[in-house]
Amino acid sequence: MKEENVSSSVGTATPSNDPNPPSTAEDNLQRHWRGVVKRRSFLKSIGLAGATVTAGALMGKQLNAVTTQSSRRLSKGDIQLLRFAAAVELIEADLWQQYNELGGVQGGNLAYIAALSNLDGDMPQYIADNTDDELSHAAFLNAYLISKGADPVDLDHFRRLPSSQATGAKDVGRLTNLLSLNVDLSWYTRYRSGQNPDFGASFKGPFTLPTLPGIPVNNTDTPPDTTIPAASAQCPGTAFTGAAARMQAIANNAGFHFAFIEQGGASLYPSLAFKAKDPEVLRILVSIGGVEIDHFGLWHDKGGNAVSQPLAGVTDPATGFTFPDLNALHNELDQTNLILPEPTDFISKDLPQCSVIRPTTTRNGGAVATIKAFTDDLLFLNQGDDFFTLVNQLAVAADSVPGGF
Ligand SMILES: [Fe+2]
Ligand SMILES: [Fe+2]
Repeated sequence: MKEENVSSSVGTATPSNDPNPPSTAEDNLQRHWRGVVKRRSFLKSIGLAGATVTAGALMGKQLNAVTTQSSRRLSKGDIQLLRFAAAVELIEADLWQQYNELGGVQGGNLAYIAALSNLDGDMPQYIADNTDDELSHAAFLNAYLISKGADPVDLDHFRRLPSSQATGAKDVGRLTNLLSLNVDLSWYTRYRSGQNPDFGASFKGPFTLPTLPGIPVNNTDTPPDTTIPAASAQCPGTAFTGAAARMQAIANNAGFHFAFIEQGGASLYPSLAFKAKDPEVLRILVSIGGVEIDHFGLWHDKGGNAVSQPLAGVTDPATGFTFPDLNALHNELDQTNLILPEPTDFISKDLPQCSVIRPTTTRNGGAVATIKAFTDDLLFLNQGDDFFTLVNQLAVAADSVPGGF
């Protein structure tokens, strides 16, 4: 890792009138950055493996249409905010494309689709639509940057991770790993709690998921012709066995992973928007951020169906993990239908609690925090040092823009 590059990036990104002393801000960012690197030190990089489909191609199409944008130039800080957002959207688009190939409304793995549909019959449609949203976000942000004379973000040469071998998946290189995930569930408790991480609160999820795939890995692990029962009172999740139970466990994990990813976006965009100088950049960040929040609310609801009746109780035969029935605990921090944010501490504890997105500080919800969370999720498992160097440079540059909280 080339820390001097990161350092100079931060240094040039911090104007002399920054209300935060540059050295303190830089120290904090460097500390976060080192934490990210430390946590991923166990990851092994693999060689470049072919392939490239991409948002790059899609973006090229969009760019031809960009000829009449305002000539007003963006500040360096606004460019840094938008470039990080573009990187995150390329990452999101990559992972959602994988989910969509297998489990979307036109997806190719019928058993996976059936298992996802046990969470909600509309899951395949929602997956397809979420994928479209992310592709549009990435293409728009890069096209907008170019329209303003700024460099877009291109991650195509990092599409080197392997695809699923299961029926339905295209055999192309990927930016992100979905074959082995550690999905954090602290957001589940955080949004049911009256405490806010921006005031120092920390949360544990209602249970800890084991390392599980988000998509079928191959046809041996989850044969695509497996009959997946429709969960019902007559056939509850506790009755699922063998390959059907394995596929359902993977689909359940995906349901929670969707919410994990999108709650990250829900916190990231406000934290970026607070720093925007140009009203048009603010408009972009608030408008895209609103859709991330919409995604989160949707997936928050669907994930809960994996741990309520009748689907609760599926035991993954590979790990032995059983998805619990959270409603049997009779605890408001677990109850699955409490998906709307509980009012929480906001701005000052002297003010009434308020129902808000949380966290929204740079430290807890900003760019570096987002990359760290995605790294801990194993979303970048087996990516190379060059990938981490670039995305963390972009993250540190975005978090270094003055303003915000
Ligand atoms: Fe997005
Ligand atoms: Fe998203």
